[in-house]
Amino acid sequence: MTIKTVGVVGAGTMGNGIAQVFAQSGFSVRLVDVAQPMLDRARGAIEKSLAKLVEKGKMTSADCEAARRRLSTSISIDDLVEADYIVEAIIEDAAAKRALFTSLDAFARPEVILASNTSSISITLLGAATKRADKVIGMHFMNPVPIMTLVELIRGQATSADSMRVASELCTALGKTPVEAADYPGFIANRILMPMINEAIFAVMEGVGTPEAIDTVMKLGMNHPMGPLTLADFIGLDVCLAIMGVLHDGLGDPKYRPCPLLRRMVAAGHLGRKSGQGFYTY
Ligand SMILES: NC(=O)c1ccc[n+]([C@@H]2O[C@H](COP(=O)([O-])OP(=O)(O)OC[C@H]3O[C@@H](n4cnc5c(N)ncnc54)[C@H](O)[C@@H]3O)[C@@H](O)[C@H]2O)c1
Repeated sequence: MTIKTVGVVGAGTMGNGIAQVFAQSGFSVRLVDVAQPMLDRARGAIEKSLAKLVEKGKMTSADCEAARRRLSTSISIDDLVEADYIVEAIIEDAAAKRALFTSLDAFARPEVILASNTSSISITLLGAATKRADKVIGMHFMNPVPIMTLVELIRGQATSADSMRVASELCTALGKTPVEAADYPGFIANRILMPMINEAIFAVMEGVGTPEAIDTVMKLGMNHPMGPLTLADFIGLDVCLAIMGVLHDGLGDPKYRPCPLLRRMVAAGHLGRKSGQGFYTY
């Protein structure tokens, strides 16, 4: 099957970036969310990002206009009925994702691959919520999607070699580099990144250093382009907490316990950039 129309479910931080790169690369995109304000925000973010590419001379005005025309938004998942490939990017919650995969499985054509952008949740578990586990795959884009070139491709227990091949070819069509990871909690990226971020939050909680001091140490001392607390704010503290929860539950080692300060900030609604307050104020 030739993939022409791509459905993206969830129009938050990641969904809008994923929709943008598919639209930019010539695919028709249907972006769906349960919340109209998120769709409006996503459209605004995509248009701003495309306009910046034109400003920098990385895209012509005509290509920008064509990309805008290829994108449509909706609050009904039924609008994905014509999608040839679907990427899920809703909240990092296993029950919500499983319910969505069951619904998508009910109306998507049998040959359609259902990909999840999950940061940590088992692809095998999501596949088991459908009758097409061979066509359920992890397609983990990095934030911000238009800039970051890596995509982790996660093979669930039942994911077929053909689904891996199709997803890999799609990554190449988007100008991304796919890397395969096995279906273990956090895969490769968050198995390594998130414990570092969690440890940086413990260091703030214990008064080892201020957020500025910790970020400066990691930037100047370890040559990281961004400090771990700036990065946590960028990812979203609720997302960080959800991922630590999956690592802790799935691997069972107390070293993965989410930092109490992280829990407290999320309970207070201090989610980082998207809420205006995290380790820094925005
Ligand atoms: N934030 C990051 O840096 C990052 C990076 C890589 C992967 N991820 C993963 O991407 C996914 C999305 O993360 P995000 O940061 O974009 O989250 P977000 O909170 O910014 O957005 C989630 C969106 O999903 C929508 N939503 C919730 N339930 C829905 C449903 N049933 N149907 C349709 N829409 C629904 C919400 O309205 C919201 O707009 C998560 O699985 C996350 O782990 C996040």
